[in-house]
Amino acid sequence: MWLARLLTQAGAEVDVVMTRGAREFVGPITFEAVTGRPVHTDIFGPGHALDHIRLAREANVIVVAPATADFVGRAAHGLADDLLAAILLAGESKVLLVPAMNDRMWSHAQTRRNVAQARSLGYEILEPAEGPLAVGEGSGPGRMPEPEEIMSHIGRLLESGTSLKGKRIIVTAGATREPIDPVRFISNHSSGKMGVALARAAWRRGGDVTLIAGHVDIPIPTEIPTLSTSTVEEMSRAVAEKLPTADVLIMAAAPADFRPAVQASEKIKKLRSAPKLELEPTEDILESTISKRKKKSVIVGFALETTDGIKNAKEKLKSKDLDLVVLNDAKESGAGFGVDTNRVTVIGRNGKHEELELMSKTDLAELLLDRVEEELRGR
Ligand code: CTP
Repeated sequence: MWLARLLTQAGAEVDVVMTRGAREFVGPITFEAVTGRPVHTDIFGPGHALDHIRLAREANVIVVAPATADFVGRAAHGLADDLLAAILLAGESKVLLVPAMNDRMWSHAQTRRNVAQARSLGYEILEPAEGPLAVGEGSGPGRMPEPEEIMSHIGRLLESGTSLKGKRIIVTAGATREPIDPVRFISNHSSGKMGVALARAAWRRGGDVTLIAGHVDIPIPTEIPTLSTSTVEEMSRAVAEKLPTADVLIMAAAPADFRPAVQASEKIKKLRSAPKLELEPTEDILESTISKRKKKSVIVGFALETTDGIKNAKEKLKSKDLDLVVLNDAKESGAGFGVDTNRVTVIGRNGKHEELELMSKTDLAELLLDRVEEELRGR
């Protein structure tokens, strides 16, 4: 239901097809209210004889969510005994099956075989998520992924073939944590929202994305291969490992600039006076890894400034050998850390800068990737 709502809100024309099983759970009227379009249920009803042909032909993408074990089996074997199964056979559009079932049914050899068969027919399968299943069934792989994740997959199916297909893209996101002792650390307010939005958008455009995440406050999309890191040292190691084969590095993370010179191995006890912390600089990840960049790769950095933004950002572009720098004003409300929106200025190597309006981080991610694609085309 939520998926149908999200798709409709995104401007899609959504035709809902309900199997008999689906109608046991929800009434068709509810879907009609969400999509504003008639819901289809019958294959042989009067006046509906050719519905399967028409619906199959009109669809840009067919999504079966949730796909039961029974439906995956029927799809894998080309059965056409109800409207939904017949649509799969009658169409040439892309098909996304989103299986959701009991974890033991999902791991049964027959289901594995059906899934493999469906894949070999060109159907995309979105693996079920781990988590609590039906009442009393504990937890395991079988849950339907969140609607937002299914949306990302639909986006990727519809957009496949864009210029990020086959491109290796690293995105870093979030804050690092530099330990003071086993329970305390130095960090910053980065939520990782901008980096995750960029990784999602690059993935939707067909990119081969690796997200290198520090600490992030939002769920990491399960479809994106992710390396979790904690300190600047760990993040730097992960970037150094991936950079030599990457076409694009987007350094959206906020690595800490300082760390305690000494890390206590035991919890520092509360004393009458607070301990004095001696800090030392961390390495700059961009500076220390940039020599490993592939020829013609595109490197994007962010610049978080409170004063002299353009001047400082241009200096960062030079000193860090960046192709693009995205300038953020740390003091502006509605921009920067934690919030869902951002207002930035994008500066290129030639010094040309583009001041963008306040927009959602999701929209900004798309726009920044358009710039990255332009850079890639220019090499
Ligand atoms: N960056 C990095 N390694 C660090 C700190 C920052 O690679 N240890 C990257 C950030 O991910 C960002 C860019 O460098 O893409 C600029 O980060 P910013 O915090 O604006 O600047 P700093 O280089 O830390 O310089 P300053 O704090 O003096 O502004």
